[in-house]
Amino acid sequence: MKRRKASTKQALGECAREEPVPDQSQTLLLPDTHDRPGSVGISSTHAVSDRKTCLGGERVHSPSPVERLRTSGVISLEGGEFDLENNVWIVGDDESAVVIDASHDHEEIARGLGDRELMAIVCTHGHSDHVNAAADLADLTDSPILLHPDDTELWHHVHPGREPDAPLLHGEMLRAGDVELQVLHTPGHTPGGVCLYAPELSTVFTGDTLFPGGPGATGQAFSDFPRIIASIRDHLVTLPGDTVVHPGHGESTTIAEAAENLEVWASRGF
Ligand SMILES: [Fe+2]
Repeated sequence: MKRRKASTKQALGECAREEPVPDQSQTLLLPDTHDRPGSVGISSTHAVSDRKTCLGGERVHSPSPVERLRTSGVISLEGGEFDLENNVWIVGDDESAVVIDASHDHEEIARGLGDRELMAIVCTHGHSDHVNAAADLADLTDSPILLHPDDTELWHHVHPGREPDAPLLHGEMLRAGDVELQVLHTPGHTPGGVCLYAPELSTVFTGDTLFPGGPGATGQAFSDFPRIIASIRDHLVTLPGDTVVHPGHGESTTIAEAAENLEVWASRGF
């Protein structure tokens, strides 16, 4: 299994922000080393490969640039322990990918990646269930961990004495193979929560910021309900209505559903 650690500059695609036509071989996560498949775009959740139900842990060729791996674990939260299933999103192509939220089981995620090169572990936020497999997966694959700096304190609750490798900042672009991801800082569930928007896939990965039926929970420490509503209003419902929303738990929705219900959610207070 060949792995390569992306440099900070490569991982964050800094020049993708600064130059109209970035030189992918120099500045982006991966050089585009193979042909773009004709079916790179998806327009519905049906285009997502679901590894738990159809792949049985063995990687097979998939035409989808978005794959969902569901992992489970027990987490401690404010004095209690809970069984929790998370969505781990693998985004990229047949050559390389990024993992959005390394949850619970780094070996299962590595099996899901197969022989693809892991370019980065992208953390939507610092809660335990979203980062608890990040360090082991990073060590196994020699890949960088990316986290918004405002969630560093939460990260250290899970990984004391270890730092993420690079910050995720609003507006930056990530790339793995054919897929480009724009970082949207969407605080509220946590201070450093981010979403990853893939315009060519009409898809946004929202972590615990947005779910079918409403925003993520804001009853915990570090959470802020008005702030999560502002994040959804300013950065998510402004996306095209047919954008598919892939959250960190459960099933997917669309931006249109969020836009239609946002004021109801804001009024109810959760
Ligand atoms: Fe969370």
